[in-house]
Amino acid sequence: MPDMDTQQASLNWPRIRFDFCGIQVLVTGGTSGIGLAIATAFVEAGACVTITGTRKSPQDYDNDLRGFHYRQLNLTDLDSVERLGKSLRELDVLVNNAGATYGSDAFEKELLVNLTSVHRLTCACEATLKRSQFPGGASVINIASMMSFFGSPYFPGYGAAKAGIVQMTKTFTALWAAEGVRVNAVAAGSIATPMTDMYVKNDEISQSVISKTPMGRWGTPKDIAGAVMLLCSPAAAFVCGHTLVADGGYSIID
Ligand SMILES: NC(=O)c1ccc[n+]([C@@H]2O[C@H](COP(=O)([O-])OP(=O)(O)OC[C@H]3O[C@@H](n4cnc5c(N)ncnc54)[C@H](OP(=O)(O)O)[C@@H]3O)[C@@H](O)[C@H]2O)c1
Repeated sequence: MPDMDTQQASLNWPRIRFDFCGIQVLVTGGTSGIGLAIATAFVEAGACVTITGTRKSPQDYDNDLRGFHYRQLNLTDLDSVERLGKSLRELDVLVNNAGATYGSDAFEKELLVNLTSVHRLTCACEATLKRSQFPGGASVINIASMMSFFGSPYFPGYGAAKAGIVQMTKTFTALWAAEGVRVNAVAAGSIATPMTDMYVKNDEISQSVISKTPMGRWGTPKDIAGAVMLLCSPAAAFVCGHTLVADGGYSIID
């Protein structure tokens, strides 16, 4: 059994290499955290990657985003979401990653940002995705959450949206699988990102996450990027409508 240091070290040197040479990828919310890790992994695998963020320009971020094409996008503006999707001439992989929590009094806004906008963007990309020639099919990946499955008193809209993401993943599969577009989701456990930074830095909360996670650590954005790459690769050519849980075992503990 490898110790934790060995496990961590191996995360930095993955033995599996994916080949996405020449394909077009769109990652919403690619400016930080999970989205940035996914976008980086696709670039390293040879893809041409467009990311979105809410700010005007990629220079407005501290992270180095020079390896990506950049489009400004606010998911609260559904018309601009649709315009962005329709403006793409080629697309092989759509990663609906962007998301946010706003609190218990923001039910509709959490639904809009985390679910309705995902539906709008995915529909806007339909024709382009169906033209993809990528072996194993084009892919849509939706980022789900433990809150897809568990109740939370703090973010009711976010939880409803993330549960809806799992269902919508199945619905798009029923609609599009026969035409070569695979739609899957990755349900992320507790991942250390700007979104969770205040919890990672709070010893009591952080320790409770670690002790409830069988793997005994917070996840990294790369943990989620790996799951996304696997689902988009030709190795997963017969996998569709699936939500892959990447949570270090968190959800199997009662
Ligand atoms: N971290 C976790 O533990 C965890 C667990 C389960 C699921 N998730 C999901 O994983 C995804 C990424 O989260 P993260 O932890 O990587 O968070 P993050 O570092 O805060 O990144 C969020 C990304 O979404 C973008 N975004 C936020 N609000 C937006 C809006 N209204 N319109 C357009 N883009 C918006 C942000 O853009 P700006 O940088 O411009 O603000 C940023 O690129 C989210 O869907 C989240 O729900 C995260």
